[in-house]
Amino acid sequence: MNTEFTKIRNEIEINYSYYLDYLNTYLSKEKIAHCISTSTYALYIVRTKEIKVNEHKVILSGILHDLCREWKTDDIINKAKEFNIEINEYEKKYPVLLHGPLSANLIIKELNICDVDIYEAIYWHTTGKANLGLVGQILYLSDFSEPLRKYSQAEKSREILMHYGFFDALFYSANERYKLSLKKREPSPYSLEFINWLKNKKDLLVNAE
Ligand SMILES: [Fe+2]
Ligand SMILES: [Fe+2]
Repeated sequence: MNTEFTKIRNEIEINYSYYLDYLNTYLSKEKIAHCISTSTYALYIVRTKEIKVNEHKVILSGILHDLCREWKTDDIINKAKEFNIEINEYEKKYPVLLHGPLSANLIIKELNICDVDIYEAIYWHTTGKANLGLVGQILYLSDFSEPLRKYSQAEKSREILMHYGFFDALFYSANERYKLSLKKREPSPYSLEFINWLKNKKDLLVNAE
């Protein structure tokens, strides 16, 4: 990535050191690097594409979105019950998908971060959902395509962002992430709703041209 990306990462490391230290409680060094990169790339998207959004919310959702990603299945289920998070049949089958909802609730309990946009973004960052808000859309795109991601679709997504813009990169990422997820599990109904919702928005944009 370029110097602007490095500048943003330094800015986050200085101003958000409290939250970056907190990540050590739950995450490996490798996952922490992903969280910092996600947050940095999210802010990079906002600034280069001049998206009008609260930067603080974008940064925090990036840093904290994967807090529970490395928890064992039993711990995930037990904590979800403790937080009264409803576990549907799909999540029962794939408990790892609860790491978003759990992380969203954990930051309320442990960090007193009570913000609907951050909560929604973190809660839905794995699957997306129809009507996802802007902070959630930015986190979704950044989580999929931040520069530490190894798969080729991440780089392609970053190229689409540069040449075609935020919405096209998001639409591409949602489709590609869905295809990648099918290698691991059955289709998520939320991901399908998310893609259909984005497709309708895209059709509206095309028809308006
Ligand atoms: Fe995640
Ligand atoms: Fe992530």
